[in-house]
Amino acid sequence: MHHFSYRSGVLHAEAVAITRIAAEVGTPFYCYSTATLARHFQVFTEGLAGLNATVCFAVKANSNVAVIRTLVSLGAGCDVVSGGELLIALKAGAAPAKIVFSGVGKTEAELRLALSHNVGQINVESEAELDTLSRVASSLGKTVRIALRVNPDVDAGTHDKISTGRKEDKFGIEWATAPKLYRKASQLPGIDASAVAVHIGSQITELAPFEAAFKRVRELVQQLRADGIDIRHLDLGGGLGVPYDHNSNTMPPSPEEYGAMVKRVFDGIDCSFTFEPGRLIVANAGIMVSEIISIKDSSARRFVIVDAAMNDLVRPAMYGARHDIIPVQESSSATAPVDVVGPICETTDCFAKAYPLPASLKAGDLVAFLTAGAYGAVMASSYNARPLVPEVLVSGDQYAVVRRRPSFEDMMALEQSPPWAE
Ligand code: LLP
Repeated sequence: MHHFSYRSGVLHAEAVAITRIAAEVGTPFYCYSTATLARHFQVFTEGLAGLNATVCFAVKANSNVAVIRTLVSLGAGCDVVSGGELLIALKAGAAPAKIVFSGVGKTEAELRLALSHNVGQINVESEAELDTLSRVASSLGKTVRIALRVNPDVDAGTHDKISTGRKEDKFGIEWATAPKLYRKASQLPGIDASAVAVHIGSQITELAPFEAAFKRVRELVQQLRADGIDIRHLDLGGGLGVPYDHNSNTMPPSPEEYGAMVKRVFDGIDCSFTFEPGRLIVANAGIMVSEIISIKDSSARRFVIVDAAMNDLVRPAMYGARHDIIPVQESSSATAPVDVVGPICETTDCFAKAYPLPASLKAGDLVAFLTAGAYGAVMASSYNARPLVPEVLVSGDQYAVVRRRPSFEDMMALEQSPPWAE
């Protein structure tokens, strides 16, 4: 469910016409809907009703401060994976106690930063990291709650490039080693080893892999408790998928079904819970809008060349991901298959092949890429010296540019001539 719909034939974000934003901001741009963000956060939270749960939005999915602030104002905490994301979460007003610091390789400086801000939990991914954290925490006279992120060796059945829970993936601590490392952690100064974390991947469209992983976590908790390690908190990660293709009839499980499964698996466990959803909260709350530069016919294909490119939305090029594409001006014209491509000098700069779009589309028309709010703007680059794509947030009949398009001067600001060339 999202709040992008046609009104009088023009695509609107809530009550704001996309054509108006395009005229004032220029294209391409990302546009987020506050009402959709709020709704997704609410639906996810409602699915967890009855659990003592904190929802920590995975900042990596969308690190726009205004977006995060919107979620924080609704009660969200943040899951961060770098010092930069930690500072963004704090800037957006997240309570430090509701910040979880995850990530495969945290530097000592990042651990120090997290400790100095008293984050609620650090998810440790290796023995070396545990040792460093203990040393830094005790030197600061602090004790921090940690979870070991355990790798349950479960195949989430998702895209190979975003699967994290198999033993050959680089993530987490191997299942068999976890009890030993917990015993060690429980003896270390500065460490409160009272949590377990698991995250098996992203865009997961079935409950079964989650359930398999969570059942293993439950067994581990019981084993650890029997060992005298008092586990009180479970961080179940993110990963619940969203529908990207309106033609597909396979729908990912709903937050309600997901929540019911979690309650079933952990019935009577007596723990508090943290969840780290990213995509589920923001994906459908965002679109990317682009203008058609030109249409080119070859003997084999019709190419719709748009002014957005793989540097603005890399998911199709990187993962073969599909995003629905719709015209901003509703059209009754019959559709014809076209390749929607960007202007970058790479074959992979292609958003969709043989995609049905109205045959009447012409240069100057606008199109919207749907479900682009997660892993869209955050993964953008300025490849081909293209300015980073701006972001707009809509609320009701208002909109604001919440990240402006950099000027050429902005883009050059970090460059310097070497002294020998002056
Ligand atoms: N927690 C941890 C430890 C994670 O690594 C991730 C995502 C999340 C939570 C949030 O997962 P979500 O709820 O968003 O599925 N760039 C890729 C997705 C990478 C996901 C990385 N980790 C894409 O565009 O599909």
